[in-house]
Amino acid sequence: MAKFQAPKGTRDYYPAEMAWRRYLEGAWQRVSIRNGFEEVEGPIFEPLDLYKVKSGEGIVSELFHFTDRGERELAIRPEFTPTLARMVAEKANALSKPIKWFSMPNLCRAERPQRGRLREFLQWNVDLLGTDSPVADAECIYTAVDLLRELGLTPRHVKVKISHRDVVRRILMRFGVAEDKIQDAFELLDRRDKIPAEEFNEQAGKLGLDQSTLERFNQVARMRVGSQAAWDDIAEQFAIPQEDLEDLAALHEQLKAFGIAEWCEYDMGIVRGLAYYTGSVFEVHEVSGAERAIAGGGRYDKLIEMFGGPSTPAVGFGMGDVVLTLVLADKGLLPDDVTPAADVFVLVADDSARCKMNGIVGALRAAGLHTRFSYKTTTNVGKLLKEAGQCRARFAVILDAKTDQQNTVSVKNLQTGEQSETGIGELVPVLKG
Ligand code: HAM
Repeated sequence: MAKFQAPKGTRDYYPAEMAWRRYLEGAWQRVSIRNGFEEVEGPIFEPLDLYKVKSGEGIVSELFHFTDRGERELAIRPEFTPTLARMVAEKANALSKPIKWFSMPNLCRAERPQRGRLREFLQWNVDLLGTDSPVADAECIYTAVDLLRELGLTPRHVKVKISHRDVVRRILMRFGVAEDKIQDAFELLDRRDKIPAEEFNEQAGKLGLDQSTLERFNQVARMRVGSQAAWDDIAEQFAIPQEDLEDLAALHEQLKAFGIAEWCEYDMGIVRGLAYYTGSVFEVHEVSGAERAIAGGGRYDKLIEMFGGPSTPAVGFGMGDVVLTLVLADKGLLPDDVTPAADVFVLVADDSARCKMNGIVGALRAAGLHTRFSYKTTTNVGKLLKEAGQCRARFAVILDAKTDQQNTVSVKNLQTGEQSETGIGELVPVLKG
């Protein structure tokens, strides 16, 4: 007999996993809405070319793609940003600005499955379009922090590492990288931790970074800056004009104004692999650097135009479920059991009352109460209460010898142990009260 397994790098969601997924999606949704974002969704596959325009080599080499019966080349979405840019370009004039959208798509990338990396995962996307104000970059970062805080994380656990492609570009050009090699330099820097040092140095050499300038760049990249004063130091130490750092200084002011400066640090080593970023770039990391990025994003001011829309500045980020869940587990912040707990467990303690059970269960459910009962035919109350406990029910409704004749039941509060008798007609108000 054929035996099948879920494809490599995908997940089956049994009830506990599904409940966690819904819990996380609930938090993503709640935080998005309170920060003023509206939910959108798109198709799970798109024309293959959509990703070739500007996602960059990394993502294109990881596409799951296929040809349909009409010979159209399609790809399963590896990220949501191109879909969002296509949607905005299509309706740009009808949409009031700023556009603040969030989505929670499942995405597929043909990566080598490893800790923190799967072939199908969920990704919360938060994007703000139609303004180039650094307030927008800061509001996106604030929304990411709001979510992290919602799940119990603190600046002791995670940090938002921020950089700016224009700032890094200017520094790299000062250090000798030609303008037309900047994109290659970004992609190389993004892969720095994934390739051997020798290969990195060799590639950097080809881009115009010799050993001594590379060393200087590494020094800049390694700086973890937390304040404006430190920016001034960098400018002085590396002879970088102040104005080259202005964009980051402006963002820093906004982050401070949002009250989240302690969650943020600046790290010129962050350039991000995706080709469409044009300004600020940021990633959320576990502080010890133990895991891959929890989230990543940045400003992409040219993408909407590239998809045929009007010039529309944009900034946003994606946060995957996989690394976030690993970090929460590591820090002991995963809640015990997030499957829905029952409100009521109806149990039959005397066979004469069994004929009433379905009717009572139905009436409670019709009143909106999450109601369970046992499929066991036993009238052993101890055993049945154990089953009620397994559903984490708050109340047990016990049908006994008097139920059939006198229309009464006992209600037991399973948290306090208190028990009282009540008429069936009074049951809903008693349980809801
Ligand atoms: P990204 O850096 O490719 O950015 O992905 C963002 C996050 O998605 C990562 O930090 C990680 O948490 C998660 N992620 C990515 N690949 C995988 C994988 N194979 N398995 C599990 N999790 C993964 C983007 O996708 C951009 N489109 C985000 C964006 C939105 N930029 C602007 N708006």
